[in-house]
Parts: sequence; structure tokens; C-alpha cells
Amino acid sequence: MVERWSDRWSRRGKLAAAVNRPSRQPQEGLISFNYGDPDAGSLPLNEVAEAAEYLAENRRVDALGYQDPIRADELNEALAEKLKRDQEIDASANQVLVTSGAAGGLSLLCDMVLDAGDIVLADGPAWMGATNMFRLSGAETINVDLDDDGLDPALVRTKLDELESQGKKPKFLYTIPTFQNPAGVETSLERRKGLAKLADERGLLIVEDDAYFDLRFSGEKKPTIYSLSHGDNVLFFGTLSKTIAAGLRIGYMVGPEDVVATMMRGRVDSLRNSYSAALADWYLRTGKLQEHMKELREIYSKKCHHMLAALEREMPEGTTWTKPNGGFFCWVTLPDGINAAEMLPQCVDAGVQYIPGTGFYSDGRGERNLRLSFSAVSEPDIDTGIARLAEVTRKNMG
Ligand SMILES: Cc1ncc(COP(=O)(O)O)c(C=O)c1O
Repeated sequence: MVERWSDRWSRRGKLAAAVNRPSRQPQEGLISFNYGDPDAGSLPLNEVAEAAEYLAENRRVDALGYQDPIRADELNEALAEKLKRDQEIDASANQVLVTSGAAGGLSLLCDMVLDAGDIVLADGPAWMGATNMFRLSGAETINVDLDDDGLDPALVRTKLDELESQGKKPKFLYTIPTFQNPAGVETSLERRKGLAKLADERGLLIVEDDAYFDLRFSGEKKPTIYSLSHGDNVLFFGTLSKTIAAGLRIGYMVGPEDVVATMMRGRVDSLRNSYSAALADWYLRTGKLQEHMKELREIYSKKCHHMLAALEREMPEGTTWTKPNGGFFCWVTLPDGINAAEMLPQCVDAGVQYIPGTGFYSDGRGERNLRLSFSAVSEPDIDTGIARLAEVTRKNMG
């Protein structure tokens, strides 16, 4: 059976078959820092039920019907208002394409712009969900290193020059400028300006994935690269997964109207998830989103600071980690000579799990790194999990 199927898979199918996806359901007793899932207790079950009641009372049968993904009304309009208020992005409702999560939008982008053999520049490290999509499209990802101030446009420029000297040009640059996944850092204002300028000067398409923008708990808010750019060289991707609920599967892409309209035609289901869209529309219009975001910032701030304190208290000398101003992730560098992937089975035996850094690079780097997600773990579990991680690390230091 498996053998017969091996002949059936397409090039993309074969690549997908080789992807190793750890289960979202951790084993009993295992503390998992793996996934960037929202804090379960904060999920707005009651409000979503209220929204559903509202739709029923108002006979909103359209919410159960087929809907175009771009509409000048409802969720598109509410998102355009939200983008203006929070992200300072000036976009009409027709410039917003509602997608099945930001992941659905990024996957559509891959279908629409990538051909096998293309090159994509991406943050180094970068969220593997996106880089896996690039790989499945047959593209090669080249990482551009991040530091504590995010992505440096000078390094991107150097990479562009290097590729140009080989007669190559990347299809786009994929970057997560705010509370980066996995590094937890944010790109500074100067660098954002530099990236916007580079995009406009070199005609470089920047894919700005700002999934965590709304979850800032400290530091100054920074403008998006999209709002700093003057051309049509930036596409902005957002999501309601981290601020309402991932299960709604509502993300959005913002760009020039004609580009967004063409993208819509490439959507294989050609429609949007109308019921989720109507629930989310209610959530945004009633002001619940803003209220909820305040609550979430407090929750994640507490968890993050708890994790930073635990790392400080427990981890052996030679370990370093980033100090996020928001989002879900902290990026750890283990002491010299320790390989995070090799150490993982011992950590699982000791009852703690993380994602090794190599998964976030396309070139095997990140051996000493690991990603810790603090968003879904309780404070007592953060303490226990970090103590277990520290103990195994110490043992590996001999
Ligand atoms: C950087 C980044 N972009 C996009 C997504 C996907 O979010 P969505 O649930 O909207 O597909 C995630 C989810 O983990 C993410 O971390």
C-alpha cells in the first residue's frame, strides 16, 4: 500500500510525506514548550457563543452561505479599521483578503508567486511553518541572520548583491519583524525604515508576517514595514489566531487592490469561511477584541517574565536567551558544545520538550539553540519545565 502510494505522490506530495510533525497532544506528565498556542484559559468561548446567538437572532443566514473572500463590508471593513487604528496601515476593505489563517494566506502566496527552483530570503532563524511551505513549493530558502535588533537591511542588501552577481534574484524576503517566531526579538525602527527603503529601491517584495504585533507587553510600538514603504513592494499578513482563537481560522493579507484581487482568484476554494468571518466581525465591532488584547498582554507578560526569571535562576552559566517585549517565544542558546537536538530525547525522558533550533534554519545552523514557547504553559509548569531543562543541560556539560 505504502509502496504503491510512493509512485502516486507528486513532487510536493513526496516532500510533504517526509515532513516530521510532532503531535500537538503532549504525553501525560510531559511539559511541552513546543507550540505557540494561545493560553487555553483565555479563549473567549462565551463571547463566541454570544456572537453566534447574535447571528441567529438577526437571521444572518448569509453567515452560513457562500461568500466572496473580498467584500467591501463586514469583516473586511472591520479589519481595515483595526489595521488603521492599531497598525497605522491605510488600506481599504478591498485591499484585505480574508484567508484561512495567516498560514492559508502564506500558502496561497506560495502558490501564486513561487516556482520550483526559486529563491526566498528569510529571517535566520524563521518560523518553520512558513519555510516548510517554501520548501513544498520547490523553493530554496536562504536565511539572513537576526540579532537582538531583528533583521539588518545591510545584511539583506549584501545577500541581494551576492545573488545578483550570480545572476539570481530572490522572489521575496519573508520576515517576522515583531516578536519574531522563534527568536522573540523585534526589528528596530531604523531597520524597518531601512527594509522599506530597500524594498522600494530594489523592487524587492517583502512578505511581512506580523502574527504577534498586537501582543506587545513592553517597549515602544513600532510602525509596520508596510506602512513605511511607498511602493507596492510589501504584502502584510496578519491573523486573529493569537488574539481571538486559532480555531476560527481567520487570517488576512493586505496589499495593493489589484494584487489582492488576483490572489483571491488563485484561492482554490474561491470562498471564505463565512461563519467564522461573521463571528470575528461581531468580535471586532463590539470592541471585544481591544478589551481582550489588553487581557492577553497581561497574561503573556506574566508568563514571559516568569520564564525569564526561571531561566535566570536555573540555567547553567554559558546559557543565553532573548528577552521578548511581546509574543510567545524565547530563543535559548545553550553552552558551547551542547547540541539541542541531540539533548532532546534526554529532556523528554526528564519530562520536558522544546523545538531544537536547527528546524528554524535551512542550512543546519542553530545546533546550540532551542525555542521555548511560554504562551500555553502554566507558571508552575514553567518552573518545573525549566528546572528539568537546566538539569539535563548541566549533565550534558559533563
Ligand atoms: C509567525 C507566524 N505566522 C503565521 C502563523 C499562522 O497563524 P494562523 O493560525 O493564522 O495560520 C503563526 C502561527 O504559529 C506564526 O507563528
